[in-house]
Amino acid sequence: MAGRCWAVLACVGLGLGLGLLIGTGTCSRYEPTWESLDSRPLPDWYDQAKFGIFIHWGVFSVPSFGSEWFWYYLRHQRAQPYVDFMKANYPPGFTYQDFAPQFTAEFFNARRWVEVLAASGAQYAVLTTKHHEGFTLWGSETSWNWNAVDVGPKRDLVGELADALRSHSHLRLGLYHSLFEWFNPLYEQDAANAFKTNHFPTAKTLPELYDIVTKYRPDVVWSDGDGNAPDPYWNSTGFLAWLYNDSPVRDTVVTNDRWGRGCMCKHGGFYTCTDRFVPGHLLPRKWENCMTIDRYSWGYRRNAQLSDYLTIQDLISTLVRTVALGGNLLMNIGPTHDGVIAPIFEERLRQVGSWLAVNGEAIYNSTYWRAQNDSLTPHVWYTFGPRQKAVYAMLLDWPKDGVVVLGEPVLAAPGGTQVELLHYGPLKWDPVKPSGLQVHLPPLAFNQMPCQWAWTLKLTGVA
Ligand SMILES: *[C@@H]1O[C@H](CO)[C@@H](O)[C@H](O)[C@H]1NC(C)=O
Ligand SMILES: *[C@@H]1O[C@H](CO)[C@@H](O)[C@H](O)[C@H]1NC(C)=O
Ligand SMILES: *[C@@H]1O[C@H](CO)[C@@H](O)[C@H](O)[C@H]1NC(C)=O
Repeated sequence: MAGRCWAVLACVGLGLGLGLLIGTGTCSRYEPTWESLDSRPLPDWYDQAKFGIFIHWGVFSVPSFGSEWFWYYLRHQRAQPYVDFMKANYPPGFTYQDFAPQFTAEFFNARRWVEVLAASGAQYAVLTTKHHEGFTLWGSETSWNWNAVDVGPKRDLVGELADALRSHSHLRLGLYHSLFEWFNPLYEQDAANAFKTNHFPTAKTLPELYDIVTKYRPDVVWSDGDGNAPDPYWNSTGFLAWLYNDSPVRDTVVTNDRWGRGCMCKHGGFYTCTDRFVPGHLLPRKWENCMTIDRYSWGYRRNAQLSDYLTIQDLISTLVRTVALGGNLLMNIGPTHDGVIAPIFEERLRQVGSWLAVNGEAIYNSTYWRAQNDSLTPHVWYTFGPRQKAVYAMLLDWPKDGVVVLGEPVLAAPGGTQVELLHYGPLKWDPVKPSGLQVHLPPLAFNQMPCQWAWTLKLTGVA
């Protein structure tokens, strides 16, 4: 990456002739076309990171009922549960905007959040700077009186989290940003013109995007909400060319694929394709599985039941499958309107962190292996550690009889293959015919196991 910058400088400093000699190819800048932008290699850190935390926070965290789509269901769909909720709890004429002063964030302590995020083992965190409601968590000049500095907390929530992440953790900062806003009159006007006019992106979306990138220098720009408008309407390629060529984060930033109707799973940095995306096979391009611990909502819900939250077994299984299939996991939490990461989310994050403390070697910096899951034993998933030259087999089940059979994904070299249970020690194994090996797990009591929820076998000397 530094090489490209140096070559660009050389082009400028030494004149065209020599510049072309030194830097053919590397002097080029990204063009505002998908062909050019899609050719950009993804900065390495992102694939190595494997695991990030998504944070949905906004005015929707005040009613904290239904989901972060509260306003849409209430106003656009007039969905009965939402209408009834308003009738039962708020005076007539109370609008969604009236929730904003109650978005108080009085307990929000960015350092405390960062401590919890870091304890999860995540390598990046992605915050909703603006969801489809249009409320910005920073003091946007193009979101007059509908931002967290003017109304509600009266604080720059994005800035506080960004600073705390940088000063107190190794986590990288990601910023989620919605292109469209459900009820913005400028957007509605453009939509009525079949997106032949672009008043809204020019006055709102693009200034916001440039603003958050220059102010907060994110390493992930996580775009969403194309509002059914094609990417030329949003000038996404123009923005991305600037982001990749001239922005302060041009060497480290990664982006997703939600840049206009039809872009998902086709253009941009990494693919997200759909929410909760796990393709079941390898993809030609890096992808991310964004999912949420509360199965029914991304924003906080006060009336969630315990069974609505995915269990730690569910989450570890999702992490393992996602990484084995070449993806990153972006796991979502919804903080409360007063700025708290509820204990249920905190527990899940710390649990994932405790699992990664034992098994992280099989996750971070790994690549996919020649098979992603086992052919003989279900719920066994593989990764490869290039630096360790080891194959990792992650077992989602502890075998009843203490023996696990690994099939053709591992071709054991008799005598040369070592099998180790991570954070325990070496294990005995026997070859099985026609290929593969059976590994004898130690008879461990539950409280003597190196970890719970999934166990990793490290195999070295595998053909
Ligand atoms: C699109 O973005 C590019 C790069 O920032 C800019 O030069 C161009 O004027 C923009 N076009 C429109 C129509 O906004
Ligand atoms: C992953 O690789 C990067 C770059 O080589 C290195 O800086 C980092 O420490 C590695 N992380 C782990 C957990 O091994
Ligand atoms: C695991 O791999 C086998 C092929 O060996 C395949 O048939 C099976 O569907 C896979 N299981 C899962 C859960 O993906």
